[in-house]
Amino acid sequence: MPAIAVIGGQWGDEGKGKVVDLVAEQADAVVRFSGGDNAGHTVINRFGKFALHLIPSGIFSPNATSIIGNGVVINPEVLFQEIDMLMARGIDASPSRLFISDRAHVIMPYHVILDGLEENLRGGRAIGTTMKGIGPVFADKIARQGIRIGDLMDRHNFMEQLRPMLDQKNLFLTRVFGSQPLSLTKIYKDYIEYGKRLKPYVRDTTVILEQALKEGKVVMLEGAQGTMLDPDFGTYPYATSSSPTAGGACVGSGISPRAITCILGVFKAYCTRVGGGPFPTELDNEIGDHIRERAHEYGTTTGRPRRCGWFDAVAARYSNRINGFTGMAITRFDILDTLETIKVCTSYKIGNKTITDFPSSIATLEKCKPVYEELPGWCTTTCDIRSFKDLPAVARKYVKRLEELVGCHANLICVGPERNQTIVKKAVI
Ligand code: IMP
Repeated sequence: MPAIAVIGGQWGDEGKGKVVDLVAEQADAVVRFSGGDNAGHTVINRFGKFALHLIPSGIFSPNATSIIGNGVVINPEVLFQEIDMLMARGIDASPSRLFISDRAHVIMPYHVILDGLEENLRGGRAIGTTMKGIGPVFADKIARQGIRIGDLMDRHNFMEQLRPMLDQKNLFLTRVFGSQPLSLTKIYKDYIEYGKRLKPYVRDTTVILEQALKEGKVVMLEGAQGTMLDPDFGTYPYATSSSPTAGGACVGSGISPRAITCILGVFKAYCTRVGGGPFPTELDNEIGDHIRERAHEYGTTTGRPRRCGWFDAVAARYSNRINGFTGMAITRFDILDTLETIKVCTSYKIGNKTITDFPSSIATLEKCKPVYEELPGWCTTTCDIRSFKDLPAVARKYVKRLEELVGCHANLICVGPERNQTIVKKAVI
């Protein structure tokens, strides 16, 4: 049976948590494969409302195994808070059904501190990171000097790794940033304790996944962030530090690309982004404010207001090129219910030149002016509609136009935050 990847098609916050929660009902294993606690997946289901940062949204499906893959970076304190919160609310997040890759990298206190200090240093060119230490931990991973979950299980080796690492980081903290040095003894003690608590959860998760696929089980790969934040294909340097794409799903989980048969792209019916960087269709006006308030577009992790704009089909088509979506989920469709007209960006203009392919250069993107197609709004509530044919004709037309522009059909249309507020236009599996 297949592996299914659920991938953010825009700049993150597309509503992947809800979509994964829905599709996870049919999955035997759900894997987080990238990012860390910079992600915030909101799930509303029969157990209540949850904001998950590290644990896969599949934790709510009683029969599914949840896996935090090698591509995730883990702040152990945040992970324990999340486990404790779930357990306290009656959700089983025990080592019998939650597994953590021994290859996943660990967020250390200096990563979090350096994230803040480096952002300050960038001044007007700050990325607007979530301040969770994500950039610094991935920098150490790629520089081959990171600490992995498996390393916390070996007291002696951990000290051998930590001592020179902390010497180096303390030099940076004190000499470059004029900050206080961190204590080796405290970090060592804390992380050895974390290692003890983590131990029952830790596995070579590639073995579990290989076995699951061999047995014909359904494995779901849960994306975090979105394609336009990818460090290769996103709006670099205004990007995150791990790959949220379908390709990243293989690298961050240890699953073969051949195993993935379904790649569901998740797109909001409009666009948002949080943090810095160009955003061609941004609505810095009352329509943008209206969308933000109506949809409560504030970050799950940071509480920051999200920038809102019209659907950008240039970016979405590009996102489809990178990921090869087999279908899409259009989320927050009901947010557009009140608008008399809706715009979709179909190309960009720089002077007289028309641009249809998403530019790699930020400087070019900043010069791009969106070219819009205007479609009529439906001006009626859709949140109680459960079948595609019951949507108003103009709403169906909007969906069809997005399908044409993005280049793949819609599987799901979400008309509200609840699990059942979903129109299945075409079954995902
Ligand atoms: P970092 O991942 O914390 O380093 O942040 C880098 C950029 O990615 C910033 O613009 C963040 O706002 C953005 N970002 C990171 N995680 C998310 C997410 O889960 N949703 C939306 N934006 C995110």
